[in-house]
Amino acid sequence: MLAGSSKIKGASDGRLLMQLRDRTARDPEGFWAEQASLLEWFKVWDRVLDWKHPYARWFINGLINASYNALDRHLPSKGDKVAIHWQGEQDDERRSITYREMYREVNRVANALKDLGLKRGDRVAIYMPMVPELPIAMLACSRIGAIHSVVFSGFSARALADRINDSNARLVITTDGYHRRGKVINLMENVASALNACKGVEHVIMLNRLGIYDSSSSSKSNSSVSDASYIDWHDMVDRYDEYCEPERIESNEPLFILYTSGTTGKPKGIVHSTGGYLTYANATFRWVFGIRDEDVYFCTADIGWVTGHTYVVYAPMLNSTTIIMYEGTPDYPSVHRWFELIERFRATIFYTTPTALRMLMRYNIEYAKVHDLSSLRLLGTVGEPINPEVWLWYYKAIGEERCPIVDTWWQTETGAALIANAAGIELLPMKPGSASLPLPGIDATVVDDYGNEIRGKKGYLIVKRPWPGLMLTIWGDDERYKQTYWSRFRDAYYPADYAMVDDDGYFWLLGRADEVLKVAGHRLGTMEVESAIVAHPAVAEAAVVGKADTLKGESIVAFVVLKQGYTDYNELRASIIKHVESSLGAIARPEQIHFVGKLPKTRSGKIMRRLLKAIVNDAQIGDTTTLEDEAAIDEVKAVYEELRKKITS
Ligand code: WTA
Repeated sequence: MLAGSSKIKGASDGRLLMQLRDRTARDPEGFWAEQASLLEWFKVWDRVLDWKHPYARWFINGLINASYNALDRHLPSKGDKVAIHWQGEQDDERRSITYREMYREVNRVANALKDLGLKRGDRVAIYMPMVPELPIAMLACSRIGAIHSVVFSGFSARALADRINDSNARLVITTDGYHRRGKVINLMENVASALNACKGVEHVIMLNRLGIYDSSSSSKSNSSVSDASYIDWHDMVDRYDEYCEPERIESNEPLFILYTSGTTGKPKGIVHSTGGYLTYANATFRWVFGIRDEDVYFCTADIGWVTGHTYVVYAPMLNSTTIIMYEGTPDYPSVHRWFELIERFRATIFYTTPTALRMLMRYNIEYAKVHDLSSLRLLGTVGEPINPEVWLWYYKAIGEERCPIVDTWWQTETGAALIANAAGIELLPMKPGSASLPLPGIDATVVDDYGNEIRGKKGYLIVKRPWPGLMLTIWGDDERYKQTYWSRFRDAYYPADYAMVDDDGYFWLLGRADEVLKVAGHRLGTMEVESAIVAHPAVAEAAVVGKADTLKGESIVAFVVLKQGYTDYNELRASIIKHVESSLGAIARPEQIHFVGKLPKTRSGKIMRRLLKAIVNDAQIGDTTTLEDEAAIDEVKAVYEELRKKITS
């Protein structure tokens, strides 16, 4: 784990950062007020922080607008600067959009939304692939104070319906379809099918990306529960004026909801504020990437996840940064795709995930030798722990030992990075595999089971003081917010990650301490996948665990108890996989399904996933004294061994 604890040169001894940390510790509110002042407020706040455990409210009564800060502010001097270099999966599909063009389209969409009756505080579900209209739709919502809830385009119709219903969205913005690995994905089919289960949706705005939607076809489903009207994006939007007065939003009104997985079957709608979130996104972007006007920045995250919200849309646009946005996957038509884009657009910063790097590394290509990557100056990684070997490969094969790497640790809930090498302030020596130190103003530490601070040993990461990017709550569920994040340790935010602090104060993130999986960087709850499996008519019970995977970080292994009379295992395996894909999406597809007679449980009936996890990962099984029936674990192990033999022989 600590194989890479050797240090790689950094620019400095950390004196600047130390001074900054001292200052923030002495006067945190003054420090955060300075960060907030980097944005433009219609009215300055009365108070910096109102902290009523566990709710932090920032910049009270300050009035601000996200789209105004991301667009209007830049027009006088940066209007003609490219905001987005967009590349479709097909090479001839390419658009470069300036800040002024973004501004005009956002204003038109905002006017259209208003005309549809959308008001401040209403929820809008956005279900779109990586096209420029996705950030345009987000900013249009923020302009009128509507709360956007972006749903990853890889999610299934049912997952979309759940998210629309949980947030009571009145409007859905979508696309007819998009290209994925050369195939056409029909997104409207999913929307039409989702609407069969959604009452409250009044309108669907559809961007015609591929021309595959026939408005007279059955997808305008007659059986739909919702009487939503279908509107073509351009037919509607093009009619509107290119100015819409931005709403003056109180700093603590929500900017967006983003669903993420937790330890129950139901995803959590993480609610982010406007003023605090924007302040923190903006500050961290400058600290971590030291963003410059001439930068061309390429973050490969899909906007459907939090990294895309913060570091593809909001933080770059607040800084009038030119971004690269790519519709497709990194290995289609070949693994050279991202590097062709870096070369084509002369990218200076490249920010991606360990999963993608592990995939690229398998091809044994020195990418920097094949492509001209000399424009790059900084590399980043996010989403999972990065293995030191992969880190070193990234450093050499892509960065040519010239570009520092910033490993950024954070979560949907934290709004933006909390632990990362602040290369924009001063680069500390890098340790491959460590995210380095908490950013200024972040009071993080590692504790044991009892809350005592520990060093040099694995424990739980906690954050002792609120920061402006902290979520407001979980949509419609304050109790779950309190329980999940603020009950494990007194007075501290609990992210449910294991970590270790070494002698130099560097943080090593060691994976999740709860039932959350990271599969190819995508966050999924074991219980969510289990609920999907159990909904299959042949299944009586299911338990899902993560198995360490050299490519994806973790893969999904399911143990399934069938109802009586079901024996056609091969067929059932295929049909359960199909069922999970249609409940959640292809990202939740189990890699292995093992049929067993019983699951190991505690005396109180809770499934012992810990034991199953130990079996699939070949680890020590540990304490089994609370097992309801010792035989069950042996049985599971026997089935597993038998299968493994079959697979390996
Ligand atoms: C994990 C993604 C190690 C962690 C931004 C966290 C990381 C979860 C890192 C949040 C990193 C994220 N090193 N682990 N640099 N970044 N994680 O909400 O377990 O999709 O709790 O946010 O990803 O995942 P989420």
